[in-house]
Amino acid sequence: MSGFPFFEYHDAKLCVESVPLDRIFRDYGTPCYVYSRSALTTTFHEFDTAFAERDHLVCYAVKANPSLAILNLFAKLGSGFDIVSGGELQRVLKAGGDPQKIVFSGVGKRSDEIRAALAASILCFNVESEAELGVLNQVACEMDKIAPVSLRVNPDVDARTHPYISTGLKENKFGIPFNEAEKLYASGEKLTNVRIIGLDFHIGSQLTEIAPFSEACRKMLSLLDCLEAKKIHIEHLDLGGGLGIRYFEENPPSAQNYVTELCADIGHRTQRILIEPGRSLVGNAGLLLTRVEYIKHTSHRNFAIVDAAMNDLIRPALYDAYHEILPVIRNDNKTKNYQIVGPVCETGDFLGHDRKLALAQGDLLAVMSAGAYGMSMSSNYNSRPRAAEVMVDGDHIHLIRERESVEELISNERILP
Ligand code: LLP
Repeated sequence: MSGFPFFEYHDAKLCVESVPLDRIFRDYGTPCYVYSRSALTTTFHEFDTAFAERDHLVCYAVKANPSLAILNLFAKLGSGFDIVSGGELQRVLKAGGDPQKIVFSGVGKRSDEIRAALAASILCFNVESEAELGVLNQVACEMDKIAPVSLRVNPDVDARTHPYISTGLKENKFGIPFNEAEKLYASGEKLTNVRIIGLDFHIGSQLTEIAPFSEACRKMLSLLDCLEAKKIHIEHLDLGGGLGIRYFEENPPSAQNYVTELCADIGHRTQRILIEPGRSLVGNAGLLLTRVEYIKHTSHRNFAIVDAAMNDLIRPALYDAYHEILPVIRNDNKTKNYQIVGPVCETGDFLGHDRKLALAQGDLLAVMSAGAYGMSMSSNYNSRPRAAEVMVDGDHIHLIRERESVEELISNERILP
């Protein structure tokens, strides 16, 4: 038992579907992100089927992992997409996503990004301020288009998650203040080149309880009822993303329980329901494979210096996030307390503290739950080329992104004549 449903030990070797991870190391090297196609498919279906007969659209939050292969897989499963930039729009279109299933979120959409999204005829703009609504109306007018709009309302609900990823409190930069929303809906109705079609909220990420979602949802429903009473017709309600996953000891609700409970709150209302899950679709469908370069024992601590670093997976450094770290090949040697650190020149460059492992130089480790906000937040700090990515399907390993080369990193730089 690995503790992770999609990655199991067979003959003491940690496997992804039918592929032992040491084979991936031999074929593609490290550091390498590894995803399971069957895990991605299973989690998507769990979400999608949880809505049962209700008219709905799952819009995968691209920021969690924008790999073309993953987007393409979700597109083929019928997914929509939640994007936050022109770059993500291009990726979704390139991966075969349906523009009519794209919602565009984010507090700072530039007019060129708005233009590109209008040109693609996306499903909806999730607007976060009066100023943005004005720009959207203006750009749409210039293009002789009507922009479909949902207002992202900030319900002022405590998501009880890490402060950096909590977004639904009134002091956060996100959304339209709850008590100003009705007024903005009314003035939005008067604009010539927007059409108000939705209401949405997103209160944060890695939520492990349903209560804050439910509280936010009920506030939105009261607003929805007020709008309907004023003959402002809302076609869809977007519940945002945010459902947490198990990294260590968390016990988040299943997609089924989460969706069922929110749908119970929504009750008889007939609006189409949109949802924007990111982490819960991909987080536990991926891991980061790394190799121990050096073991270093000091009088204070034992360090395992591995070839993945904060530039590959920044979550431990940025949020003090816990990722389980498993040996790829299990042994019965005596364990020691290790600090698992990368080669980057910062003390914050660690993947895990105080892990009980039996390690030797050359061993492979799997940093678990790295499918979401792993590769997507990676950087080239210390001029480190980004990791390769593979997707396993049965006994097949597909290379979905080649390891970057240093030549690529510096190819668009110039020195002065
Ligand atoms: N919708 C909106 C408007 C969002 O801002 C986000 C995430 C999502 C959906 C997807 O949320 P999810 O289902 O993945 O929780 N880098 C952080 C997470 C940042 C989340 C930002 N917004 C981390 O590594 O924990």
